[in-house]
Amino acid sequence: MGSPHWKRLCLLFLAGLTSSLLLYGHYYTTVESPTSQRIIASLLQPELLVLAPPRTSHRTGSRTGTLEGSSESVKSSKPSTELKEPKPRRKQVHHAFASVMARAKADPKFGKIFRFNTPGCSMWDQHFTPETWERLKTRHVPYGWQGLPYRVVGSTLQQLNTSANRHLFNKDAFPRGCIRCAVVGNGGILNGSRQGKAIDEHDLVFRINGAVIKGFEEDVGTKISFYGFTVNTMKNSLIAYEEYGFTQIPQGKDLRYIFIPSDARDYIMLKAAIQGSPVPEGSDKGDKPQKYFGPEASAEKFKLLHPDFLQYLTARFLRSALLNTQYGSLYMPSTGALMLLTALHTCDQVSAYGFITSNYEQFSDHYYELEKKPLVFYANHDMMLEAMLWRSLHRAGIMSLYQR
Ligand SMILES: *[C@@H]1O[C@H](CO)[C@@H](O)[C@H](O)[C@H]1NC(C)=O
Ligand SMILES: *[C@@H]1O[C@H](CO)[C@@H](O)[C@H](O)[C@H]1NC(C)=O
Repeated sequence: MGSPHWKRLCLLFLAGLTSSLLLYGHYYTTVESPTSQRIIASLLQPELLVLAPPRTSHRTGSRTGTLEGSSESVKSSKPSTELKEPKPRRKQVHHAFASVMARAKADPKFGKIFRFNTPGCSMWDQHFTPETWERLKTRHVPYGWQGLPYRVVGSTLQQLNTSANRHLFNKDAFPRGCIRCAVVGNGGILNGSRQGKAIDEHDLVFRINGAVIKGFEEDVGTKISFYGFTVNTMKNSLIAYEEYGFTQIPQGKDLRYIFIPSDARDYIMLKAAIQGSPVPEGSDKGDKPQKYFGPEASAEKFKLLHPDFLQYLTARFLRSALLNTQYGSLYMPSTGALMLLTALHTCDQVSAYGFITSNYEQFSDHYYELEKKPLVFYANHDMMLEAMLWRSLHRAGIMSLYQR
């Protein structure tokens, strides 16, 4: 990287950190509020959220989040074949086994929150219709396309024209039927955990952001099927965790990348990645996607999460009280949370490793730190709400959360 470019990135990152710290005080008072009541309230209000008054622009940061029920959004979401029940295969499932779907449907609380048919989690070329454009341009990223150029969104989605773009994975490739997924967060709880073998035994392994593997194989395993990120979190991870050995985004022939579209730059980078050409515009201009994703440029290698799916997840599972504050427009679930919830909507069985637990204070922020560092609370995430959600899902038997 050229030095001015690097400096700019670093400054941006520092600016982000500083504002996070400034917001921290405010944030902490929010999360200290009666938390168990909050999650119950959040889980029992399953309406979708509408975050954006269309007139204000995302960039000004002055948007105030508002929550309204919206049945319109539900109706107009495209059902995904992927999320429909895999009917023929369910017969093969062993009797002792209950899938995420079966357990979620049977649970009094989560049965009202999960929707397995709509909206689908991936987005592909056929979603770029006038009707979808009109609807999504009224919601800000990552829940919509407000402020994004028509040309940018359209030309990116046009690239996602293979059948592989319509689902995260092909269920037919798993004749055994029950697809077991591990989602590996980067939490300090994994240091010394020796969970590597158990993680690698899953059919599919999701990893996110600064997923250091070298030197931690015994604790976190080596397998990686999906790497989930936003361009912002991916590039910040390369800077912040370089000293711990995160010098390259994981690459591999069978590895698929899951883009979380939280900004125009995600759409722009995705298109460049599929085309195998340098990023033509925006804040990543000149970046060579091969540097991040390896030499293989093809539509099959990349998945894009659907803004409707992100809205559904946020509104139903992680509707934070932060949405009602002046920072509401900045709030979104963490990358790890979005990946774990994506896995819960696509896999038959899900195990979460390295995610926040109630005793998080005993562990370092990340498993690869040499000295214990406290967990960083970013102002745009609600880690306490996420912690309660993982605990509830674990208790309901819908997923298993690694704890110690
Ligand atoms: C997908 O789009 C690319 C680029 O526009 C095109 O070259 C390719 O033929 C298309 N493939 C399919 C299966 O339509
Ligand atoms: C990780 O575990 C090792 C071995 O148990 C320990 O020496 C080290 O201090 C731990 N790192 C952190 C950040 O807690």
